[in-house]
Amino acid sequence: MSDHLMNTYAPLPVAFERGEGAWLWDTDGKRYLDAIAGLGVCALGHGHAGLARVIADQASKLLHTGNLVHIPWQEKLAERLTGVAGMDRVFFGNSGAEAVECAVKIARLSGHARGLENPSVIVMEKSFHGRTMAALSATGNRKVQAGFEPLVSGFVRAPFADTAAIENIAKNNREIMAVLVEPIQGESGVRTAHDGYLAELRAICDENGWLLILDEIQSGLCRTGKWYDHQHEGIQADILVSAKALANGLPIGACMASGKAAEAMQPGSHGSTFGGNPLVTRAACTVLDIMASEGIADHAAATGARMMSAFRERLGDNGLVKDIRGRGLMIGIELERNATPVKDHCLEAGVLVNVTQESVIRLLPPLVIDEEQAGMIVSAVCDSIEALD
Ligand SMILES: Cc1ncc(COP(=O)(O)O)c(C=O)c1O
Repeated sequence: MSDHLMNTYAPLPVAFERGEGAWLWDTDGKRYLDAIAGLGVCALGHGHAGLARVIADQASKLLHTGNLVHIPWQEKLAERLTGVAGMDRVFFGNSGAEAVECAVKIARLSGHARGLENPSVIVMEKSFHGRTMAALSATGNRKVQAGFEPLVSGFVRAPFADTAAIENIAKNNREIMAVLVEPIQGESGVRTAHDGYLAELRAICDENGWLLILDEIQSGLCRTGKWYDHQHEGIQADILVSAKALANGLPIGACMASGKAAEAMQPGSHGSTFGGNPLVTRAACTVLDIMASEGIADHAAATGARMMSAFRERLGDNGLVKDIRGRGLMIGIELERNATPVKDHCLEAGVLVNVTQESVIRLLPPLVIDEEQAGMIVSAVCDSIEALD
């Protein structure tokens, strides 16, 4: 690692030069199957010719103008994205964390408009919402927060997937304005909730006049078999944050809102120099078009279901495997022990996987993987787990 980079990451000993679909080639020419997609970003895979042509065309015409003028591609993306998400309005920033910041700001504006002095947001234990100050304060992981105190105030923590705990807070805290939740907790190990959890939260929010904020930065954009994971439950969010796969690798974050929450921001309330520039918004429009026309959500659902049953069949009786969970192509395999050797073994075998929370093998492959590639990922992960002593 260069001494001139801040010491924030612990990268694997590999660097990639090019990619094609779910394949990556390192600087020595070795080929790898990508089962992590740059942490859930490259949903359409690498080196997508159609997307590359659009990006090159836009780069040759106009990269950036700033939001002092109309940006037609931004307006087009706003219409397209809110359409698939079932939301009313969107603000574009450059990352997931920024989208979360925008969501928290909307919750506070809405709370003040209701006369609350300290509008607060219920957040979940073991959640992850990003590394900026409000996002890390909302995050339920002390490791992410340690050393960065004082944290941003106005967050009240509750256990994930525990509706009774939220009801209890509703009885005792009059300053709550919103609930912020990931439908599936990604960073903390692809932790899923019981069926109906989001609908239960929706009902509590409705009873109390709270906003339901869904962080679908990892679970969204077809990964779990719908445009957004909460659509499996048929519920409506008040605020929905999205990022990662939206431009398949160009930086973009989106904070969408519906109803009253969509009217909270006014000129001067929020902004971003790069947010929603012509390059990234045109790329994102193309990503959404490809996802829709190629039936990527259905493909992710079917491929993920096949992978999940293959994992269960092969690892169901393995004493080292604690749990196999997830939805679509967001899959977590929790071991009874540290899973780092699995990651290393897979890397050696030419399959790139991720380990989170030390014991969970997390798979977020490009959503375009075919059956053979899915089978190769399953084999490599199972072989690596079985090779553990
Ligand atoms: C659920 C969730 N929220 C927020 C973030 C932060 O996104 P970013 O790293 O783009 O700021 C992430 C990133 O992994 C995430 O998974």
